[in-house]
Amino acid sequence: MQAMYDKVVILTGAGISAESGLGTFRDAQGLWAQHRIEDVATPAGFARNPDLVQAFYNARRAQAALAQPNAAHLALAQLQSSFPGEVILVTQNVDALHEAAGSVSVLHMHGTLAGALCASCNHRWPAPPELSSNSLCPQCHSTAARPDVVWFGEIPYHMDRILSDLETCDLFVAIGTSGQVYPAAGFVDAATAAGAKTIELNLEPSATHSRFDDARFGRASAIVPAWVAELLDERNRD
Ligand code: APR
Ligand code: ZN
Repeated sequence: MQAMYDKVVILTGAGISAESGLGTFRDAQGLWAQHRIEDVATPAGFARNPDLVQAFYNARRAQAALAQPNAAHLALAQLQSSFPGEVILVTQNVDALHEAAGSVSVLHMHGTLAGALCASCNHRWPAPPELSSNSLCPQCHSTAARPDVVWFGEIPYHMDRILSDLETCDLFVAIGTSGQVYPAAGFVDAATAAGAKTIELNLEPSATHSRFDDARFGRASAIVPAWVAELLDERNRD
């Protein structure tokens, strides 16, 4: 059966995990209303006060460990398994809710809470529940362990792969992201340049909503399953 689209690139943000109980960043009670970005999400903040940064990520790691995927995560996992074309799932989120819902090959462009990174030898290993300034790197045994999360001013992961996927996709969908942080906020332009159709699924118009061909507004747990059902149904409507 010929699908309407051959290759779909999906970008998710904190809004897809909001109904799983994980805070977003820029909503009224968001994480950036409670903490200063420069204190907890920059290399300079980590150098200045590593214990504060480790505590910030330990708290998020603990909260993420208790969270369950919601209907939006589950719908995307179903799309990945049922869609005849290619589905590339890119997330800005550092939680593991896409994987918990059954998604595979998730590209975590901002890293993951589940990962630890050695700032001294670049070794990566599964993070323990709590990282601290005493945590030893299993490889070089230094105490330079940090969360394997991309901070402001650092280079996001998987960018070559993501940009090449955007250049060859025919549908780009942004879900639950405010479109305020680059390079993710520019993905819609790369998809448009490739001739792809672009859709935004969000609680409210994002900062980049005018650059999308189409938009659906509402809670992710409602609008994402509806959109996935439509896309899969389109496949059956030849
Ligand atoms: N359903 C759908 N969308 C929602 C929901 C929901 N239940 N709740 C909130 N949203 C939307 C908000 O309207 C907002 O547009 O999700 C978006 C969340 O935006 P941000 O809090 O800015 O999160 P995000 O876009 O993922 O931030 C990008 O910024 O701080 C950095 O590294 C951090 O990855 C993060 C990046
Ligand atoms: Zn090391």
